[in-house]
Amino acid sequence: MRSEDHNEHRPDTILDNLKTAVVCLDDQLRVTYLNTASEMLFGVSARHCDQEAFDKALPYLADHRGRLIAALTEGAAYTERELHLRAGGGDPLIVDCTVTPFTDQAGESALLLEFLSLDRQLRISRDDQMRIQNLANREMIRGMAHEIKNPLGGLRGAAQLLEREIDDDGLKEYTTVIIREADRLQNLVDDLLGPRRPPNKQLLNIHEPLEHVRALIDTELPPGITLERDYDPSIPEVRADREQLIQTFFNLVGNAVTALGTSGNILLRTRTQRLFTIGGVKHRLVTRVDVVDNGPGIPRDLLPRIFHPMVSSRAEGTGMGLPIAQYLIHLHDGLIECESRPGQTMFSVFLPMEASDG
Ligand SMILES: Nc1ncnc2c1ncn2[C@@H]1O[C@H](COP(=O)(O)OP(=O)(O)OP(=O)(O)O)[C@@H](O)[C@H]1O
Ligand SMILES: [Mg+2]
Repeated sequence: MRSEDHNEHRPDTILDNLKTAVVCLDDQLRVTYLNTASEMLFGVSARHCDQEAFDKALPYLADHRGRLIAALTEGAAYTERELHLRAGGGDPLIVDCTVTPFTDQAGESALLLEFLSLDRQLRISRDDQMRIQNLANREMIRGMAHEIKNPLGGLRGAAQLLEREIDDDGLKEYTTVIIREADRLQNLVDDLLGPRRPPNKQLLNIHEPLEHVRALIDTELPPGITLERDYDPSIPEVRADREQLIQTFFNLVGNAVTALGTSGNILLRTRTQRLFTIGGVKHRLVTRVDVVDNGPGIPRDLLPRIFHPMVSSRAEGTGMGLPIAQYLIHLHDGLIECESRPGQTMFSVFLPMEASDG
C-alpha cells in the first residue's frame, strides 16, 4: 500500500462514509463526535453540536436520558430495535439503536451510539424491487404492444378501404367507429411502447423545464387552485433531456391538479440532497424536485401499484402517466418516489448530479 492510500482510509473518512449514524457522548452526555450519516439522519450540523448537551443538540434523543445514564454508570451496552424517535410534532425516525460504553483517550467514560435508519433501508430494498419489476414489466408490455400494433394497422387499413367502397352513410358510421377506435388503441400502444428515441442529454438548469410546465399549467388552472414555488437557486446544472423532464413534470403536476379538483394548493420545490442511493448506486449529490399537493391522497390499495401500467382511479385515465414518467427518469439513472396520505401527496424526482461512485 502506498503512503497516500493511508490517508484515504483514516477513521474519520471511513466513519463519514458509513451509512450507520455514529454519535459519541462524553461522561456529561455532551456530544463529542457526530458523523455525516448522523447529520443527515437528525438534520443537524456536526459543528453546531460539538460539546453541546445531547438533548439540546439532538432533540430526537431527549427522552432517552435515563437509559443513556444507566449505560454509562453500569457500563452495559444495549440495543433497541425499531425505535421510534420523536422530536416535536413531526414524523418519527425509525431506527435500530446500539449504545456501547467505552473509555476515551483521557480515561473518562464515554458512550458510542449507532443508529441504522430503517425507513431508508426499507425504502432502498423496496425501490430495488420496484426497478427490477418495472424492467420486467416493460419487456413484457413492449412485446405485447408490438404484437398488437401490426394487426391493428391492418384492421385500420381494411376499414378505410371498406369506407371508400360503401355508399350507404348508415353503414359508413360503422367503419368510422372502427377507424376511430383503432386510432385510440394505436395511441395506447404507442404509449406502451414508450419513448421512440434515447434521451438527448444536455446541461440544463432544472428550473427551466419546471417553469415551462408551471406556465403551461397555470393558464388553465381552476381559480381555487394555487401553484407555489420554493426553488433552491443554487442548484448546479443537471445533464438531462429537457423534453423528457417536461413530460415527467407535466404528468406529476397534471395528476396533482386532477386530484385537487376545484381547490387546493400545489407546491413545486427543488433541493439538492447528499449521499443518495438509487438502484444500489450511491450518488454523492442528487437534485430533488418535489411536487406536493394537499388533495385527498392516493387510495391506500392503489399506492403500492401506482407506477404499474394501466393503474388508474379515473374513468378517463389510461394509468400510463406515472409508469412513463418513472421510465423517463430511469433513463437518467434517477428515481421517482411517492409518499401519500389524506391531505398531502408528494412525488419526489431524484436526478443524480454527477458520475456515480459505485
Ligand atoms: N397527486 C395525486 N393525488 C392523488 N392521487 C394521485 C395523484 N397522482 C396520481 N394519483 C393516482 O394514481 C393513479 C395513476 O396515475 P397516472 O398518472 O399513472 O394515471 P392517470 O392519471 O390515471 O391516467 P393518465 O395519466 O394516463 O391520463 C391516478 O389515477 C390516481 O388515482
Ligand atoms: Mg396522469
